[in-house]
Amino acid sequence: MLILGIESSCDETGVALVETTGDAVPVLRSHALFSQIAMHQAYGGVVPELASRDHIRRVLPLTDEALSNAGCQLSDVDLVAFTQGPGLAGALLVGAGVAVALGAALHKPVLAVHHLEGHLLSPFLSADPPEFPFVALLVSGGHTQLMRVDAVGQYELLGETIDDAAGEAFDKSAKLLGLPYPGGPHLSKLAEQGNPQAYALPRPLLNSGDLDFSFAGLKTAVLTQVKRLVGADLSGLLAAHAADALSDQERADVAASTQAAIVEVLLKKSLKALSHTGLKRLVVAGGVGANRSLREQLNAARGVRVHYPELHLCTDNGAMIAMAAAMRVRAGVWQPGAALHSFQVRPRWPLDELVAAT
Ligand code: KG4
Ligand code: ZN
Repeated sequence: MLILGIESSCDETGVALVETTGDAVPVLRSHALFSQIAMHQAYGGVVPELASRDHIRRVLPLTDEALSNAGCQLSDVDLVAFTQGPGLAGALLVGAGVAVALGAALHKPVLAVHHLEGHLLSPFLSADPPEFPFVALLVSGGHTQLMRVDAVGQYELLGETIDDAAGEAFDKSAKLLGLPYPGGPHLSKLAEQGNPQAYALPRPLLNSGDLDFSFAGLKTAVLTQVKRLVGADLSGLLAAHAADALSDQERADVAASTQAAIVEVLLKKSLKALSHTGLKRLVVAGGVGANRSLREQLNAARGVRVHYPELHLCTDNGAMIAMAAAMRVRAGVWQPGAALHSFQVRPRWPLDELVAAT
């Protein structure tokens, strides 16, 4: 079965083709991606209306590209999958509208996919796919969650952030250091030149006893540290100007200390989740899963097998959406969208509300 997957929940338009045959692990035939990062950079974050308009411009050319790279035609597609949520409502509507229209035109079923399920199952596209059951650490710009995953569609929430996501903590701290959006990769690069122990930044909820996270206080701690370094009056100085006054080494040290704080919390809570569940396999997915320091420290943890998506599939893409659909088909836990000519998006949609057969 050839599955076309469409992702448009935020600032990446992705279209991919995944093929599933019997019990074999589904295979990625092609994927095409356009990132809007450059367009949003001028605003320091994603502008939802611009995102929606750009998805409209990109989605059909990307569909053509994915089909031609796989040597296929639209008529070869057996199932159309799209991201139904969570995400930006207007952006989601573009992918949903195109998917439902294609399904209607081709007389093929349409499957609504949960974006986080896409991230969660994306390591099955790697050369080293995990086996069920496992603990999943989902770390993106909008989510930080630990889930117990027993099978496709069987997800139990173990803990999550009570405020900002880990990606947000990276992005907001990076902004304070005057780095471009999205800050995570830039901060991580700068951190390579710095000393992670230079400044003691808080590790919120590290010893809370549960598996929840809190990152909202970190950006304030980073700002306070920056202002302390430049000797500024804490109330008076604008954040961006404070960072300008730092030396290159100080900036790198702040970046390294910030990354160390975020990574330590993610590492320790993931290990705690493994010991609570008695499981030995960890899947790390979502944009922050591309972070090198996080990967190095998780890989060094004893008695744990860690699985990641391919680096280029850590951030949003169509392949993970087609893959999630394929995994549902393979596991027999899917139902095509009921009415082919109507659809809904779900901008807010907790993953543990996803039942086995949606
Ligand atoms: O999964 P994703 O592409 O989009 C969401 O669904 O949110 O994740 C984007 C997030 C951003 O916050 C970005 O800064 C972060 O992932 N990110 C990183 C790295 N690469 C992407 N954070 C830290 N280190 C990285 N190397
Ligand atoms: Zn994502």
